[in-house]
Amino acid sequence: MIYSRIAGTGSYLPPRVMTNAEFAARLDTSDAWIRERTGIVQRHIADKTVSSSDLALEASRRALAAARLAAEDIDLIIVATSTPDYVFPSTACLLQAKLGIKGCAAFDVQAVCSGFVYGIATADGFIKGRMAKKALVVGSEVFSRILDWNDRGTCVLFGDGAGAVVLTAAEKPGIHASVLRADGSQAGMLSVPGNVCGGAVVGSPFLQMNGQAVFKFAVKVLEESARETVEKAGMKLSDVDWLIPHQANVRILEATARKLGLAHEKLVVTVDHHGNTSAASVPLALDEFVRAGKIRSGDRLLLQGVGGGFTWGSSFLTL
Ligand code: ACO
Repeated sequence: MIYSRIAGTGSYLPPRVMTNAEFAARLDTSDAWIRERTGIVQRHIADKTVSSSDLALEASRRALAAARLAAEDIDLIIVATSTPDYVFPSTACLLQAKLGIKGCAAFDVQAVCSGFVYGIATADGFIKGRMAKKALVVGSEVFSRILDWNDRGTCVLFGDGAGAVVLTAAEKPGIHASVLRADGSQAGMLSVPGNVCGGAVVGSPFLQMNGQAVFKFAVKVLEESARETVEKAGMKLSDVDWLIPHQANVRILEATARKLGLAHEKLVVTVDHHGNTSAASVPLALDEFVRAGKIRSGDRLLLQGVGGGFTWGSSFLTL
């Protein structure tokens, strides 16, 4: 039996830090409101000339270095993003060119904030199916581009960034189990309901959200998904060393950990200083804790995504 395991992690945040005070200076909001309702203190914002593939490139270089591999070793690239550089070609193809390689399969996954977990599960399937041996899986977003900066209900929540992992074929897991789910009937709860038609944007180019509905839905499915995935792996919730949920809102994260009976110390939280970076949030959080020496080889991690679609899913793995 072939399994896949994480051989290296990397991430990149654009240097510009935006604090809550900057919102309070021009909108009817406050640092206290944003901190209390979301846990967010600051987020990083990319310069307008910087694209998702640029952020992905930096994160990928760091993940490759951590895995002690060269770009030429990679035979599959998956980029999870909802803010691609172009309508097409895919951000994964643009990343491949920026890495200076060609020939390997490269495609994007569009599952919004669940995109990285969808990407990990897809790459795991490719490796188990002997279609790849060394996969680069990236979550990269410039959500700042699709925010209405006058809508205080949404613009304070998000940030830009990228995270990456290298998954390699291995004799032992690695990834024990993944579960992916979607419910398209909930598409209207969180969306950017626009497209490009005849040279113009038709619909809205800005993110729209029913915050309270998203909150309730996220807490419900994150709990269900965690239980289902751990059971599929033949393990128990007590086997989870680290819970790394999509970093949407600290209250969602804490409610999920509480419902699962997981100690606060096992919960990875980076939303306070990253904001919600959509598909990038899980690999950014993972890499930060790995580099800080908190998450170590042999630890068992439950990665979780939830977001527009609606989509959700989990992947349970040993690092
Ligand atoms: N500053 C001050 N007041 C605000 C702000 C703000 N930034 N945003 C909204 N308000 C106001 C509203 O206008 C409303 O005012 P009103 O009572 O006069 O009408 C009041 O605050 C309460 O609004 P609610 O929407 O009820 O506030 P709530 O406590 O639900 O918090 C929030 C809103 C933070 C968006 C919350 O619903 C939430 O976190 N939902 C989850 C959404 C989320 O995480 N989305 C991320 C994307 S989805 C994902 O990643 C899975």
